[in-house]
Amino acid sequence: MNRVYVCSCFGVTEQQVKQHAENGACTPRQIASACKAGTDCGSCVRRIQAILGRGACPRRELVDGGRPVLSELEGLEEFEKLEEAA
Ligand code: FES
Repeated sequence: MNRVYVCSCFGVTEQQVKQHAENGACTPRQIASACKAGTDCGSCVRRIQAILGRGACPRRELVDGGRPVLSELEGLEEFEKLEEAA
């Protein structure tokens, strides 16, 4: 198996970064929250940005298009809870 390491501090591979992006992490900060990549020496952050910029994050097109993303979906859940409670 061909493993390309993006973050050597935490042993995070390009494939893992892409998987986190598929699961919704659209920024280096969100990738860091998911797997710590980029939180030690920081030298991998540009590579993570490059991977995210290559379309690894499916929601990125929504963000770029100015359409609603997670924050609005979360708001919708709150709205539905309020409706159920009423
Ligand atoms: S290589 Fe990723 S934090 Fe150091």
